[in-house]
Amino acid sequence: MTAPGRRGRRLRVLVTGAGGPAAIAAMKSLRADDSVELLAADMDPWAAGLYLVPTWARTLIPAGAAPGFADALLKRCLTLGVDVVLPTVDAELRPLAAAKAKFAADGIELLLAPAAALDVILDKLILAQHCADVVRVPRTEVFGPLVDPAQWTYPVIVKPRQGSGSRGVVIVGSAAELAALDRSAELIIQEFLPGEEYSVDVLADAGGRVVASVPRLRARVDSGVSVGGRTVHDPQVEAFGRAVAQATGVTFVANVQCKRDASGAPALLEVNPRMPGTLGLTIASGVDMPRLALASLLGKPLPETIGFCERAVVRFLDERFIDPAEIAGVGLALA
Ligand SMILES: Nc1ncnc2c1ncn2[C@@H]1O[C@H](COP(=O)(O)OP(=O)(O)O)[C@@H](O)[C@H]1O
Ligand SMILES: [Mg+2]
Repeated sequence: MTAPGRRGRRLRVLVTGAGGPAAIAAMKSLRADDSVELLAADMDPWAAGLYLVPTWARTLIPAGAAPGFADALLKRCLTLGVDVVLPTVDAELRPLAAAKAKFAADGIELLLAPAAALDVILDKLILAQHCADVVRVPRTEVFGPLVDPAQWTYPVIVKPRQGSGSRGVVIVGSAAELAALDRSAELIIQEFLPGEEYSVDVLADAGGRVVASVPRLRARVDSGVSVGGRTVHDPQVEAFGRAVAQATGVTFVANVQCKRDASGAPALLEVNPRMPGTLGLTIASGVDMPRLALASLLGKPLPETIGFCERAVVRFLDERFIDPAEIAGVGLALA
């Protein structure tokens, strides 16, 4: 990418959630771009990604759910001369989308889906209703007083409307078990999908035109983290990812999760409207989504479609050894 940084210097891109694998994957991609100067943010001074950038480029920020998060981040961005913010933390997405105009007024762009798309995507019930005419969607209802356990086929899934990280996902084996569960308008009941599960990384340009759809299969999971996986060509699943991305209006990078039903048809689980933790595999498969997304944000047209090759990944932990004073040093940066 050749877009020059503003005011004659390199483009300063701040990646949040620097302790997480999505941020690390995005940073690995963007640091290969000579026109980009990377900065890293996290709420925790022990976040590994902070130590992949120079001391001046590290900052602590409040939790995404904290009141005043967006204002505090904007203030840090102005101090650090940030041009683009790339958020990777779920809790940050809505507050940032709501503050998009405020950031723009100060010349700072967000690599983030529009607020309207987030409103659909981040509520799994609204998402299911929204996509029902576009792709196969499992039967999904609010787990409220109107649910009649006799009217469902078991097992069923009960999960939070706005959950993440598989927290609160329950497989319910029988009507009796379901009847014993506490009802809540914050929960949904969903048809159980027994088949193969896919994470489909999709890239859309700044206008929402989908240019790439790359299905991944998890081969090995250790403590909830994918440690082995592969990308796979499957026209049906690729088209599924594209259709969901188009229907929801996401921009830049998102991750569409689907699982096959009893007849083998892919059906929608959820959409994560941000870079996923295993994005490195998609990049290695030939679609460098962070760099392409940034190029589109800067007004550069993306190709009509971008294909990929099948790759597998095995993952391991890596380390940086640093002076303990550096950890305390980041803490001071927020003051
Ligand atoms: N309807 C379903 N049928 C089968 N498995 C499901 C279903 N819904 C969720 N799961 C399982 O639970 C995991 C987490 O659910 P998901 O909808 O992705 O929520 P989140 O990741 O936001 O917690 C999925 O990856 C899948 O393995
Ligand atoms: Mg999920």
